[in-house]
Amino acid sequence: MSYCLNPRCEKRLNPDERSHCHNCGSQLLIEKRYRLIRPLRELEEHYQTEIFEIDDGGTTKVLKVLTNHHPQWVELFERQAKVLQQLQHPGIPGVDPDGYFTVALKDNSRELHCLVMDFIVGQNLEQWLLQNGPISEDRAIDWLTQIAEILEQLHQNKLFHRDIKPSNIMLNPKGQLVLVDFGTVRKITGTYMAKIGGGLPVTGTFSPGYTPLEQVDGRAIPQSDFYSLGRTLVYLLTGKHPLDLHQDESTGQLLWRDTVFHLSPAFGDLVDRLMSPFPGNRPQTAQLILQSLQGLDRTAPPPLSLSQQRDVWWLIVINAGLAIALAIACMVRLQAWHQNQQQSSQAAALHLQAWHQNQQQSSQTAALHWSQVLKR
Ligand SMILES: Nc1ncnc2c1ncn2[C@@H]1O[C@H](COP(=O)(O)OP(=O)(O)OP(=O)(O)O)[C@@H](O)[C@H]1O
Ligand SMILES: [Mg+2]
Repeated sequence: MSYCLNPRCEKRLNPDERSHCHNCGSQLLIEKRYRLIRPLRELEEHYQTEIFEIDDGGTTKVLKVLTNHHPQWVELFERQAKVLQQLQHPGIPGVDPDGYFTVALKDNSRELHCLVMDFIVGQNLEQWLLQNGPISEDRAIDWLTQIAEILEQLHQNKLFHRDIKPSNIMLNPKGQLVLVDFGTVRKITGTYMAKIGGGLPVTGTFSPGYTPLEQVDGRAIPQSDFYSLGRTLVYLLTGKHPLDLHQDESTGQLLWRDTVFHLSPAFGDLVDRLMSPFPGNRPQTAQLILQSLQGLDRTAPPPLSLSQQRDVWWLIVINAGLAIALAIACMVRLQAWHQNQQQSSQAAALHLQAWHQNQQQSSQTAALHWSQVLKR
């Protein structure tokens, strides 16, 4: 089966052998080589793009199609294509020099902007988490190292991603992470820095729970990527979306450490620094993150978490209660035994007295008897 490229076509699925869509007549072999195999996520109107797995003469690739024609989105899309063409890194999908083009639809109603990139085998981390559950600290350290290395390359090229989150990171079968979705990538130019310094508006992007406040205000900086990366790690370590976790009202810090089973204080501190509300308190470069990871001392015993402290208190209270109950029971038994002993000794004394009186009476009777015998 192959899909029709036209987002407005109402019956997009076609048998393999067709050259044109049976419904709208659009070409099914794009640029005379690419055939759309299946959408990589639902084809819904609220997305700005559609994304397909495609066949390029036997090689599987990915085609991203811009469905929003607003000039601002076109600019972002073109920027994404340029950046991916320019970057060469195993953690970033490659795009061939001819991988960006436009396609005119059959009715000439509009041009579609298209981007062909390498297909990354595997799942994104949101899908992976649903299947595998929260990750261990060891895995989190490995993944943080990999993403920091990708960001180092990106930032060195004076670019920043601006939309790091689990669904934009893919894991391949070799255990390597690949950063996708460069739709919001930005060049750190002098003009850009002057613009945010002067409070002028710049194109903003926003993923609730992952985007730092300065970026919501349209003032994203490279350290904004570190904030989103920290939030991504929290999601992966806890299995909870950052919006479902509580925040310290006074500091704005996310309260997440208690929900992780085993977390060394040193690594927890690093993740907290990454997503510090004030950008100046975050590591300033990806290189510094990598250095912190290398010098991480994970031997210090983790302090008891709040829930663990609560458990210890409950144990103390229950044990103390049991000890008091045991002591009371012992005292009651001792008292009863004491009373019992007193009653027994009184009875014994009475018994002895009676026996004594009995003995006296017997000896008096005997004496009387013998005196009578003797008198006789
Ligand atoms: N090169 C690729 N190879 C394989 N799968 C990919 C690739 N790029 C993206 N995907 C998959 O498609 C999904 C959507 O892609 P992408 O994030 O680029 O689109 P998007 O339109 O920006 O979506 P959103 O902004 O809502 O995250 C990704 O989460 C990932 O699962
Ligand atoms: Mg995405």
